[in-house]
Amino acid sequence: MSAIRFLTRATVLSAALASLLVATPAGAIVHVRRNVYDPTAPVSVYASGVRAMKARPATDPTSWAYQAAIHGTYASPPLPLWNQCQHGSFFFLSWHRMYLYYFERIVRKAACGSDAPCRDRFALPYWNYSDSSPERVMPPAFRTPAKKSNPLWVSERRPAINAGSPLPESAVSYAVAFAYRNFVSPTGSPFGFGGQRLLAPAHFDGPHGQLEQQPHDVVHGAIGGFGGWMSDPNTAAQDPIFWLHHANIDRLWKRWLDLGDGRSDPDPSTDALWYAHKFHFFDEEGREVTLTGAQVVETVTQLDYRYDDDPPVLPLLATAKPGAPPTPRPGPPEVLSEAPIEGRTRLGAEPVRVLVKVKEEARGRVRSAVAGAGAEGRLVLEIEGIEFDRYPDPYYEVYVNLAAGEEPDFRSPSYAGNLAFFGLKGHGGHGEGTTDARGVVRSFDLSGVSAALMKAGRWDDAALTVTLVPQGPRAKGAKRPKFASGTLAWFARIMLTLQ
Ligand code: C2O
Repeated sequence: MSAIRFLTRATVLSAALASLLVATPAGAIVHVRRNVYDPTAPVSVYASGVRAMKARPATDPTSWAYQAAIHGTYASPPLPLWNQCQHGSFFFLSWHRMYLYYFERIVRKAACGSDAPCRDRFALPYWNYSDSSPERVMPPAFRTPAKKSNPLWVSERRPAINAGSPLPESAVSYAVAFAYRNFVSPTGSPFGFGGQRLLAPAHFDGPHGQLEQQPHDVVHGAIGGFGGWMSDPNTAAQDPIFWLHHANIDRLWKRWLDLGDGRSDPDPSTDALWYAHKFHFFDEEGREVTLTGAQVVETVTQLDYRYDDDPPVLPLLATAKPGAPPTPRPGPPEVLSEAPIEGRTRLGAEPVRVLVKVKEEARGRVRSAVAGAGAEGRLVLEIEGIEFDRYPDPYYEVYVNLAAGEEPDFRSPSYAGNLAFFGLKGHGGHGEGTTDARGVVRSFDLSGVSAALMKAGRWDDAALTVTLVPQGPRAKGAKRPKFASGTLAWFARIMLTLQ
């Protein structure tokens, strides 16, 4: 938790500086991206830019529809640079940073024209849904008035969200992602902050890196719900809140780096491609432009923007030391559990419980992995062959060895993480898992969970019960969230592995 305390301290310290406009060495203004709940955040400027972009023809690269289609779209035939978003790899953070940068310039010009004070003051606000519970509510300007004349409102969201219900607390935490010190994970591994290494960019790949999984993916589905735009990468960027969600994810990348203790961007000597690959966008004049990873690592000097909580004194943060999981080892995971019964496990609006039996000969290894012998590797729960027809409206909290009658609580030692669906391949659609024989896999590091359960006397080397509990925003006054009925998603297997 020390990480969070330090972040708060940095926020306080930099608040004094936030009102100053700073110039870069080149003389350009450094635009300040502010918390959307800060009354000085230029939300109405954003609204007028969005309105102007929506009025442009969809074939104009600076129009609302075109910019959203650069992320993803069902429209065809695709126009130049449509369907470019990078999910499920180490390009996730850098690509979205570039995408937001040009989008912000387009909004600035659309809203301010040549009005210099307006241009200097305008930067995309961000939505920090993680650090205070009142701010887990969709910012008011995006909900009210709930009419077409409000360019920030869309009806294609989960009704509870548009009615002002908060995002669930378990959806918004970045603590797990921040505990990782490695940005890049080996190809095939989700166990890095920023995503797996790829040898070439891919619109969708998998597995997703830690920050992408949580809070990024979970928040998408929590806002979009069943059939809403934010749930699906092919429609998400049409929702004006998308851009504030991503400004926050971009900010979290900087906050993570500030924690220090070995946290850094990819190593140029081993990940030259991350720095060198050129991605294409359109600027505010509608001209095609390119950016590389090397051109976006320093937002202040390279992109003329910073966040209102960027710490003025970096070394202050370097002492924060959350318990960090080890850097992942390459190589295929070893399966410790017995071959599961064939057939799908269906997920719906009720919790689902699955028994995972450990092979007799593997129980000793499980024991020493839990005891933290280290050399054994880490225990990882894998859910394989995840599919759905439509993006499901819940995400699922994953628990290990919940006691009979125990209320699931994500603060309890049994909680292993969330299963969310954003960016995954729908049945027959496209997305992550299109090419992998195992289909979509989601992995949960059980190092912390198993040690805590062992301590509490609730660990069993021979078997674990896994419970998937549907979760999402609740309607006002309701005790539980409500979800669509029937089978919302299913998976083929659930396994305990060592990796
Ligand atoms: Cu490219 Cu949040 O999505």
